[in-house]
Amino acid sequence: MTKGVTFLVTVALLALASSLTSAYDPSPLQDFCVAINNSNSAVFVNGKFCKDPKLVTADDFFLSGLDIPGNTSNRVGSNVTLLNVDKISGLNTLGISLARVDYEPYGLNPPHIHPRATEILTVIEGTLYVGFVTSNPDNRFITKVLNKGDVFVFPIGLIHFQFNIGQTNALAFSSLSSQNPGIITIANAVFGSNPPINPDVLSKAFQLDQNVVNYLQKQF
Ligand code: GLV
Ligand code: MN
Repeated sequence: MTKGVTFLVTVALLALASSLTSAYDPSPLQDFCVAINNSNSAVFVNGKFCKDPKLVTADDFFLSGLDIPGNTSNRVGSNVTLLNVDKISGLNTLGISLARVDYEPYGLNPPHIHPRATEILTVIEGTLYVGFVTSNPDNRFITKVLNKGDVFVFPIGLIHFQFNIGQTNALAFSSLSSQNPGIITIANAVFGSNPPINPDVLSKAFQLDQNVVNYLQKQF
């Protein structure tokens, strides 16, 4: 074999091997990471700088107060208290976080996405109507009514919600498979972006009258 052919065969074998072994995209630890050449201006190392292990104490892995209900006096009647790496620094690089979700009667944790995490939710009190929608083209709605002690999974990146359909407060705890799962609330992102998306885009995308788009952009 000539050198050129050997090279091509090697490249082909490597490509084949990597297609067999790489079954998952690497998971970013922040919304974006613009590359720079000058490391003096670099601010993130794998999400955060690491503390010298000799200086680490139990308090780096500890937080109290998750027994305190979140304030649900808002237009959706729910509150998410998210304990991510910003709240518990020991979570850095560990790929996990925790949320307490409070719902007043008929309170809604509105349709949202976690761009970097799958969520597993446990109902502690109340009755929740929950669901997620699969990606295009099926857009299948997978839904269930959950009661105390029930557990439900929301796969990474899919739109999901929880709605308290009971007449009492509801409470749930969720684990999320990222130290920084991120939350994109669909209505806020689409109708409340900053600066606003051109109303023509929203009118066409959602097949809505311009007046309705203007109204929604004021609401969010
Ligand atoms: C938190 O984001 C949740 O959906 O419970
Ligand atoms: Mn969620």
